[in-house]
Amino acid sequence: MTHSSILSDLPVLPLAESFALTEAYNLDTFPKKVNLGQGVYRDEECQPWILPSVRSAEEFLHRQHLNHEYLPIPGAAEFTKEARNLLFSPQLAQNENITSVQTVAGTGANHLAALFCARYLRPKHVFISDPTWDNHHLIWETAGPDIKRKLYPYYDPLTRSLNFDGMIAELENSAEENDVVILHACAHNPTGIDPTHTQWEKIADIVAKKRLFVVFDSAYQGFASGDLDADAWAIRYFYSRFFEGASLPISATPSGMIVCQSFSKNFGLYGERIGALHLVTPPSVSPRGAYTHLVRLIRAEISCPSLFGERCVHIILTDPELRSKWEEDVKTMASRIQRVRMSLKLELENIGAQGNWDHIERQIGMFSYTGLSKTQVRRLKDVHHVYMLENGRMSLSGLNGKNVAYVARAIKDVVDRD
Ligand SMILES: Cc1ncc(COP(=O)(O)O)c(C=O)c1O
Repeated sequence: MTHSSILSDLPVLPLAESFALTEAYNLDTFPKKVNLGQGVYRDEECQPWILPSVRSAEEFLHRQHLNHEYLPIPGAAEFTKEARNLLFSPQLAQNENITSVQTVAGTGANHLAALFCARYLRPKHVFISDPTWDNHHLIWETAGPDIKRKLYPYYDPLTRSLNFDGMIAELENSAEENDVVILHACAHNPTGIDPTHTQWEKIADIVAKKRLFVVFDSAYQGFASGDLDADAWAIRYFYSRFFEGASLPISATPSGMIVCQSFSKNFGLYGERIGALHLVTPPSVSPRGAYTHLVRLIRAEISCPSLFGERCVHIILTDPELRSKWEEDVKTMASRIQRVRMSLKLELENIGAQGNWDHIERQIGMFSYTGLSKTQVRRLKDVHHVYMLENGRMSLSGLNGKNVAYVARAIKDVVDRD
């Protein structure tokens, strides 16, 4: 006799889309298949790229015969200091109201941010861009089930540009004091569209007016422009405006800010799961108190973070030769993506694919939000073996000189059918 369990009725859930696509792609035996699904960098040969700076750091670390002891609960302090410098600039990062902990990549940082907010900030709503990286929803659903998730408009499909007025209006009309707003620091996933500096200033106005708590998600520093400082502009602007010095009246100071930082993409350390969370506190909050609460959450969740990624990132950021090699590596990745972006657009125009493809060139970062419909995306996969997300997001690094013409012809076939 079998006893039923409360777990017996659990349905089988689908795998996250980008991982499911990669599984399907790996099983596909068609020789010309192309994977434009997962947000990972690939070189001209369609292979994972171990950054030369990372390779040198690995070799150096290997020669040191380092031990495998536990790290402290908040991670390696020398690593989190460098991570903070990279995002905030060494000058701003000295301020004591930024406290940093090591995380399990960008996902772990986002998850810890959600846990921290759910437990200690207790906002009524979290505002998430529409569209966004799909994991934002799952993370906040699981870590903060009592916080209502709301979408703010971000993308205008008609103009294929930022729906700035819609975004501001939604925050103006629906956000309440202490609500969380998640902002992509640069190279927005999936749209490849970032606010201009003037628009960031206006977003900061509404954050101040409504006293919102900003969670910046920085997963692509270096990929928007190839320049690490330029890509951190919005974070530094918000920090300087709200938290540097104590000159603002309390009514215009947000209750804090968190920055989630990933090193998966800009160091190519995807599987090493290395990232950081930076908590910025206003003068009325003790940074030490807030920090100890973060540490407690980490202790319960992972006890302490892992070693290899932090060692690798730390040595690269602090050794002048490795650092300049790495900055070149980041430029190499950003410029190759830029080149294939241009080739795809030109190829589509040259073969006369129906429609206007200027947006592919205008968008920035790792992705193109192509505007292709679900049906078109499905046909691309089923007929042409070209894999991309159903929302039309294409990870451009899967393109190269050998397959761009094939992909353009496949796109022409699916758009010309409508
Ligand atoms: C917007 C955004 N945030 C965070 C992440 C998390 O990256 P990871 O956990 O691999 O560092 C990603 C990855 O695709 C992303 O696109």
